[in-house]
Amino acid sequence: MEVKKFMVIGAGQMGSGIAQVAAQAGLHVVLHDVKEEFVNRGLGVITKNLTRDVEKGRKSEQEKQAILERIVVSTDINSAKDVDFVVEAVVENMDVKTAIFKQLDDITPAHTILASNTSSLPITEIAAVTNRPEKVIGMHFMNPVPVMKLIEVIRGLATSDETYRIVADLSEKMSKVAVEVNDFPGFVSNRVLMPMINEAIYCVYEGVATPESIDEVMKLGMNHPMGPLTLADFIGLDTCLYIMEVLHEGFGDSKYRPCPLLRKYVKAGWLGRKSGRGFYVYE
Ligand code: NAI
Repeated sequence: MEVKKFMVIGAGQMGSGIAQVAAQAGLHVVLHDVKEEFVNRGLGVITKNLTRDVEKGRKSEQEKQAILERIVVSTDINSAKDVDFVVEAVVENMDVKTAIFKQLDDITPAHTILASNTSSLPITEIAAVTNRPEKVIGMHFMNPVPVMKLIEVIRGLATSDETYRIVADLSEKMSKVAVEVNDFPGFVSNRVLMPMINEAIYCVYEGVATPESIDEVMKLGMNHPMGPLTLADFIGLDTCLYIMEVLHEGFGDSKYRPCPLLRKYVKAGWLGRKSGRGFYVYE
């Protein structure tokens, strides 16, 4: 099966990036969200990224226009009726995701592959609400999508080899590298990354050091390009908390207990960069 028409559900941070790389790979893309305002914001981010690429000489103005012309926006889920491939990138919440997969299973043609960009939720459980679990897969892009090379591809219990192959081919077409992993809470990326971020938050909570000092230690001492707290603000503290909860519940091990300070910040609406405040303040 050749993927020609591609749909992204959720036009936030990740969804808009995924739509951009898909359109750059020559696919026709439908970018969907619940409100006009959200899809337009997503399209605005894509336009800004492409304009910067033109300014830096990485793309021509014609290429930029051609990419933008391949993207249409939608607020009607029925736009999924003639697509070959869907990536869902809505909020990290199982109930929201399964409701969308049920709808997509009803609306899309039988050949359509349904992928989730979830950071940590079980693909097997998402697949189980559909009548095509062999065509459901995790396609975990990294943030910022246009820049980061990795796609962590998660096989659910029933995911077929053919579905995996199509996703691996598609990743290559998007100039990304697919790495295959199995379906366990947090997969590999967030099982390793998130406990480190959570531990850095415990260091703030216990007064071991300031956020600036903690980030400096990890940058200068461990050669990380970005400190864990800067990264947490970038990912979104709500997303970090969801992932820690998935790890904690999924393994039942207290080593994954989300730091109370992380909970407090999320409750306060301090979600990081996207809300203007997290461990740092953003203008
Ligand atoms: P975001 O909050 O920026 O965007 C989510 C978008 O989904 C919003 O625009 C929202 O309006 C939309 N949405 C919510 N319910 C919807 C529905 N029923 N139908 C259509 N659209 C709906 O979130 P972000 O950061 O883009 O995360 C999305 C997914 O990507 C999550 O599963 C997250 O775990 C995952 N992810 C996030 C990364 C990050 O660094 N932020 C990295 C990799 C994966």
